[in-house]
Amino acid sequence: MITPPSRAADLTGQVALVTGAGRGIGHAVALALAAVGADIAALDLEPPAETQRRVERAGRRCLPLAADVSDRAAVDVAVAETLARLGRLDIVVNNAGVAERRSLEELDDRTLGRALDVILRGTILVSQAAYPHLKQRGGAIVNISSVSGMAGGAVSRPDPSGAAARGRRSGPAYAAAKGGVIAFTRWLAKDAGRYGIRVNTVAPGPVETEMTRGFDYDVAAQPIARIGQPGDIAQAVVYLASSMANFVTGQVLVVDGGVVLD
Ligand SMILES: NC(=O)c1ccc[n+]([C@@H]2O[C@H](COP(=O)([O-])OP(=O)(O)OC[C@H]3O[C@@H](n4cnc5c(N)ncnc54)[C@H](O)[C@@H]3O)[C@@H](O)[C@H]2O)c1
Repeated sequence: MITPPSRAADLTGQVALVTGAGRGIGHAVALALAAVGADIAALDLEPPAETQRRVERAGRRCLPLAADVSDRAAVDVAVAETLARLGRLDIVVNNAGVAERRSLEELDDRTLGRALDVILRGTILVSQAAYPHLKQRGGAIVNISSVSGMAGGAVSRPDPSGAAARGRRSGPAYAAAKGGVIAFTRWLAKDAGRYGIRVNTVAPGPVETEMTRGFDYDVAAQPIARIGQPGDIAQAVVYLASSMANFVTGQVLVVDGGVVLD
């Protein structure tokens, strides 16, 4: 049977859970999914009030949730609340993340543990909690990795205005956790296809958010010579979450202005 191509992404009637939805890329993802019709469960360490306000202004429902994605019990409660308050779950965007820019010699247990816990464990825990519900009618998981997880770290310099943080590649725990997200995406895609669930990754290059504030990237050398904006990443998430990507699973969509071509 030939399915006619969708003219545009349309998520009307669907519910999307977005982690790290309080600011930056997660905030933009929540707004972009809402703009094509989805109701949003917006999860962050604190209830993301501004995201809620803007999603509701766009005419969609928004459930603000406070949870740490590395806390299994809190994640389970957040997913249960999403089901109870918004009635269903169709899309999960695992976006919550923390950066670290240490050398291997300087990598202490706390920094290592936090990067792996939030980025990798969090992605797995939220997917685990959502999986039984996504299985009911199919759906999509989009995990946010990074070019760091493919290329072994993205290089930055300290901002010339004198930020305290040192400029160097994103660190070993960050790169390993983001690489792990890609491996987990592929593993889950193989398991989930039979339930009508697609699982993909977006790997952004440098994007202008709090995470990159005070760092300077050599964007002039990129084929598309500017830093990424949260909305650039959000559009890729919308594509992968929607039926426009019906036959796409287990993939890494690199959204980086061409950085990893080198
Ligand atoms: N900004 C970039 O250049 C860039 C590049 C590649 C990948 N990414 C990835 O994109 C994602 C979003 O990054 P961003 O740039 O918007 O960063 P950001 O720091 O602006 O936002 C991250 C959000 O995640 C939330 N968060 C952190 N730990 C959490 C936890 N344990 N539980 C729940 N929420 C938590 C934060 O509170 C924050 O709202 C991250 O996974 C990041 O690694 C960012």
